[in-house]
Amino acid sequence: MTTLTTAPLAPILARLLDDADVSSAALNVEFASMTEQERAQLHDPGQYRALYHRARDHHLAVSRDTGRLLYMQARAVRARNIVEFGTSFGVSTLHLAAALRDNGGGRLIGSEFEPAKVARASDTVAAAGLADLVEIREGDALETLAHHMPEPIDLVLLDGAKPLYPAVLALLAPRLRPGAVIIADNADWSEEYLAIVRDPVGRYTSLAFGEDVELSVFTG
Ligand SMILES: C[S@@+](CC[C@H](N)C(=O)[O-])C[C@H]1O[C@@H](n2cnc3c(N)ncnc32)[C@H](O)[C@@H]1O
Repeated sequence: MTTLTTAPLAPILARLLDDADVSSAALNVEFASMTEQERAQLHDPGQYRALYHRARDHHLAVSRDTGRLLYMQARAVRARNIVEFGTSFGVSTLHLAAALRDNGGGRLIGSEFEPAKVARASDTVAAAGLADLVEIREGDALETLAHHMPEPIDLVLLDGAKPLYPAVLALLAPRLRPGAVIIADNADWSEEYLAIVRDPVGRYTSLAFGEDVELSVFTG
């Protein structure tokens, strides 16, 4: 039995994941109706704020498998300090906070620039009985994750604007402990990020894991 699989979290998470499925189906329809120009904007570093504002009602959540991977990795490294770039409505946050609870406690710093998402994720985290472990910082992660950060960081989830993955990693790297795990969702959208974590003479060991995750370890 784990926090993930028991009440109050389990039924809350099941509902949230069902909502996320509905939201994802609606988003696919929206995506299919986009022009080529609009699609190109998805990869434009200058457009990320507008893009995510447009998607403010959508979960864009990690998959069920990735959620489980987050929980497992956080348990495996006995994470105490976790940083999350891109909280949305909190699917990944709940998996990571559940791992902190089962590890005996800790701190998760989330980040989200859509105020309504911060409010909803915070309510959900509280309803799941995990509020004492989670702080969701409202604003651009490049600013909110730049100060008052825990150390050492044991695990990082990168799931915000893809063009910012290299900058967010650079921001957090000085606080990573050797052996820290970095899980980057849809990292294939940032070639620059993949070049950093896959550099054979760099500070990470990394591989593509499953369909949409890049799993990396900070080797120190
Ligand atoms: C893919 S969703 C995150 C999904 C979430 N991890 C989950 O599993 O439910 C990305 C979220 O990151 C937020 N975001 C993107 N870039 C950001 C930034 N620079 N600072 C703060 N939030 C950001 C978006 O508003 C969006 O809600």
